[in-house]
Amino acid sequence: MGLLDKFAPLAEQYRRHEAAGTNPFTVAFDRVLSPTEAMIGDKRILLLGTNNYLGLTYDPSVIDSAIAATRSSGSGTTGSRIANGSYGGHRSLERALADFYGRKHGMVFSTGYQANLGIISTLAGKNDHLLLDADSHASIYDGARLGYAQVTRFRHNSPEDLANRLRRLKDEPGDKVIVVEGIYSMLGDKAPLREFAAVKREYGAYLVVDEAHSLGVLGETGRGLTEEAGVEADADFIIGTFSKSLGGVGGFCVTDMEGAEVLRVVSRPYMFSASLPPGVIAATEAALHELRTRPELRQRLTENAQRLYRGLAALGFELGPEPSPVVSAVMPSPEAAFGLWAALLQAGLYTNVSLPPATPKGLALLRSSVSAAHSRAQIDRAIALFGELGARLGLLTRSEAFAPAK
Ligand SMILES: Cc1ncc(COP(=O)(O)O)c(C=O)c1O
Repeated sequence: MGLLDKFAPLAEQYRRHEAAGTNPFTVAFDRVLSPTEAMIGDKRILLLGTNNYLGLTYDPSVIDSAIAATRSSGSGTTGSRIANGSYGGHRSLERALADFYGRKHGMVFSTGYQANLGIISTLAGKNDHLLLDADSHASIYDGARLGYAQVTRFRHNSPEDLANRLRRLKDEPGDKVIVVEGIYSMLGDKAPLREFAAVKREYGAYLVVDEAHSLGVLGETGRGLTEEAGVEADADFIIGTFSKSLGGVGGFCVTDMEGAEVLRVVSRPYMFSASLPPGVIAATEAALHELRTRPELRQRLTENAQRLYRGLAALGFELGPEPSPVVSAVMPSPEAAFGLWAALLQAGLYTNVSLPPATPKGLALLRSSVSAAHSRAQIDRAIALFGELGARLGLLTRSEAFAPAK
């Protein structure tokens, strides 16, 4: 028996898709041209499967900031902030994030994944309870595995089920920490946050909201679902990532909690991993400035998301419950998802295949994500390709011709 034999069925599937040219997990873009276009060989590809929600990856001020910081401070920090020190940029970005959210404390991690690992594993200790939405992102589950708290899952987006579970835990000692997301990354649905906040108050629990997909997307000033739902005061910790609307890499948390500085010396994913390079930090602070000062990007994103959602719904695709920048079409099987994905790519459109365990209810999804940088013509072209190839592969329940909205 070889060490990797346990993966044999998966490896076989992987090889089969590779041979058939339908392996979405090994796509490489030879050249990226803009937030919405790339080249694979000599084929121009329309990008509809990135999380570049505000299209800031090519923003001149973001790029210039990255270059200037790299020139002045070097390519990397070569160590963790605890062991090897912080740079001025780390502190400056933390202050900018705290200021944006109106919170006392901001803390930057090297990825969004690590932000969840670092916060969730430390907030709830050995005698505490974590209450996780069943559809939580892997980084939330992994944060729970890294810590020592008792973990309870509640039904996705169900404040009633959360309340039932908290009631059962009422007489148990320890703190209760609820973790939910703003927009869920697979189906693009939002948490019923006002109702969750009411349950949190009723049971004296703490609330952590991961706004990875809702930062820069929701709320009057782009602070996310907590802002949109008017429950910012109930969210004890907000977690987020720089890798989506901010167009970079990294993660953060903000809080008003007294004493939160101690998290820097108890959170292992913060302590035992190198800090972000100066260029990434400076680019992120510039992107945050763009997010704050250009609300029209959010408006444009919303219009594009609604256009794609309505267009695919009109074709007869089964989608998530509401329009959002994540627009996922439910496929009858993983094979159907691979087939449509490959046909779309062949026609010049890049999307994502999402499968269990990443997806809820074992669904096979063809996931698209929309950017403010997409033109209407690009969105309409994507819808037309979905219609044409979906019909050819027998995946449409209705087959109305797509007529672009005015
Ligand atoms: C809800 C959620 N949280 C955290 C993360 C991790 O963020 P990152 O990829 O920036 O590490 C993701 C990534 O997709 C996510 O969807």
